[in-house]
Amino acid sequence: MISNSAILPGVIRLVIKPDNRWKGFVPGQHVVLTIEHNGRLLSRTFTIASGIQQWEKQGIITLIIKQYEQGAFTPLLSDLKADDWLNLSQAFGEFTLPETTKPIVMVAGGSGITPFLSILDTDFSQQVHLIYYAKSGEHLGVNQLATLMQQRPNFSVDIVTRGPQTNLSEQLSKHDAEVVMVCGPSSMYIEAQAWCQKHKRHISAEHFSVLTASFKGESTNHSVSWNNKQFVLNSQETLLSQLTAKGESVTYGCGMGICHQCQCVKKSGVVRDIRSGNLSSNTQQLIQLCVSQVVSDLELEV
Ligand code: FES
Repeated sequence: MISNSAILPGVIRLVIKPDNRWKGFVPGQHVVLTIEHNGRLLSRTFTIASGIQQWEKQGIITLIIKQYEQGAFTPLLSDLKADDWLNLSQAFGEFTLPETTKPIVMVAGGSGITPFLSILDTDFSQQVHLIYYAKSGEHLGVNQLATLMQQRPNFSVDIVTRGPQTNLSEQLSKHDAEVVMVCGPSSMYIEAQAWCQKHKRHISAEHFSVLTASFKGESTNHSVSWNNKQFVLNSQETLLSQLTAKGESVTYGCGMGICHQCQCVKKSGVVRDIRSGNLSSNTQQLIQLCVSQVVSDLELEV
């Protein structure tokens, strides 16, 4: 790491100089950041917020991270020193600039702006309009966006203060585009998806709160054996969120079904994959805790 600094209350910027084994990234991709705390390794996934030029010229990348007061990871980032050990995975992810010459509308919610800051700091020839929702005083990268708008005739931005209603459909109709890219809460994605379906437009999304999505059927409780302990867990939240809420030490990274760090062996029982709604078999198989809900009694092996 090179430095960390607060850019807004509760938002930190980390500047990292990866070693020469790091292979670079495509703007819009994520990395898994691992730090050591009290002898334990902790990992989370973050999107790179800086552009390709900074990486190519200076060999550094920037992460902009919202810190959660009660979080087990992000508050620790404020204490990192320049020479502290940290590990960076290779970059991964598919949420990158689509290969199209047609106009694009980008929709960001809160800290969902980070992939767009990276993508926009790269040469693009399409007409791009960004609609950026955040609470009052919590918009990030506003100066960068304003400079970009002055420099590029093919870029425009609406900075919108998020209220109870997003009026996103109205905004999308105003700036009609072939492709809509969305990074924000699930509610934002759902509204954009409905608009795209209606208007036959293509949507590309990274909706980071997908993982709090829950099965909307009747809630049932089931006995789950984990780490030689017994728990009663419900069918509406993910196994990961319930086990961590019960104070269990669970290894995980992205929380999105991407990195497989939360993988464990299900010896018996049925789980639902929250991304597809598909049910597993009742037999032994690998599952990802962050995208699984319990459907029957379960036996898990760590
Ligand atoms: S935490 Fe990354 S796949 Fe579950």
